[in-house]
Amino acid sequence: MTNHDCQLTLARRMGTLPSSCVRELMRATGGRDVISFAGGLPRPDLLPLDAVRAATDRVLTREGGEALQYSSTEGEPALRSLIAERLLAPRGLRVAPEQVLVTTGSQQGLNLLGKVLLEPGARVALENPSYLAAIQAFSLYEPDYLPVAMDDDGVLPDALEQCGGTRAPNFFYAIPDFQNPTGRVYSRRRREAVVEVLARRRLPLVEDAPYSHLAYGEEPGPMLASAYPERSFVMGTVSKILAPGFRIGWVAGPARWIEQLVRAKQATDLCTGAFAQRIVAELLRELDLPAHLARLRAAYRQQCDAMLAALAAHLPGEATWTRPTGGMFVWLTLPRHLDAREVLNRTLPRGVAFAPGESFSPDGSSRHALRLNFTNATAADIERGIAILAEEVKRLL
Ligand SMILES: Cc1ncc(COP(=O)(O)O)c(C=O)c1O
Repeated sequence: MTNHDCQLTLARRMGTLPSSCVRELMRATGGRDVISFAGGLPRPDLLPLDAVRAATDRVLTREGGEALQYSSTEGEPALRSLIAERLLAPRGLRVAPEQVLVTTGSQQGLNLLGKVLLEPGARVALENPSYLAAIQAFSLYEPDYLPVAMDDDGVLPDALEQCGGTRAPNFFYAIPDFQNPTGRVYSRRRREAVVEVLARRRLPLVEDAPYSHLAYGEEPGPMLASAYPERSFVMGTVSKILAPGFRIGWVAGPARWIEQLVRAKQATDLCTGAFAQRIVAELLRELDLPAHLARLRAAYRQQCDAMLAALAAHLPGEATWTRPTGGMFVWLTLPRHLDAREVLNRTLPRGVAFAPGESFSPDGSSRHALRLNFTNATAADIERGIAILAEEVKRLL
């Protein structure tokens, strides 16, 4: 493929790589006074600034120049242990520290999985809709997608059983805890049913779990991988519970699978920044994590309630939406003949942004839906923004 503007011959894979509509929106609206429901950002005043300052100081005093050296590709041993102990074990997954690979954000985990597991024409089964940046990350490796239908209890086991027919997918990518973009959580019974299908088909699972610790009511059931550890990768991140600026995530899985990702990571970035890893380890050790999470949950629960109340007050009867009990997103479905991009074209000049649904479904089936983030806007802005969104939806009906 030749791009005459920049006189570069681009790799074929760039031709089909979608760009992130959310990143573009963030760029377009950055600095402007916009009520943004588009990203998945934590609320800035909930970032643990004082704890980070103190942790940084302690790390530099105690560890000196060592803290500023390269790390091993696998990651800092202390951090790998803390992730296993403090973040995975409470979700039902018992792994040894050696089974945890620290990554540069969990987005890098998605990229490494694509590198190691996908070649052109490989098949990825995923929930419909699914996380747009996972679709973007996998798309670099030119797979075909098999979107699997969901209901409010999670992915449909029958649809998963049949997906791909005799040509089974290379893996199933799932976000069972407060999914991005729908906010749905798999019920306990559905978790069991899905694991049964995976085991019967011997399908590898990639379980992405950035929102597991952000439950606003009942805790989600144990991770799918806890009942299927021999064929599961689990991904996580501190982006939603500490701060995205650290760019610290992880992939855990069977040791021989993790070794393959380590080789790919060596070739990708040598290692994740040691300084950020050591500060995050110190935070996981010293911060009162349960109290910090309780603060996040209380604040986000109120914002979620504000969004659900605003939707009920303003949206017309033809629209439906999910009612999340955790995470960061509500998924709003409009009548089929509406295109959420057209709605966005009308709300943006009025200062309201959101993520149109199209990019969350590789088969284009979510054009009439949209994702609303509620964690990075005040209750007053949520009310004002949803009122504007509803006005524009009604004009298009
Ligand atoms: C489902 C899912 N996976 C991965 C990520 C990437 O997170 P990170 O900041 O760790 O790269 C996100 C971020 O929004 C997400 O929602």
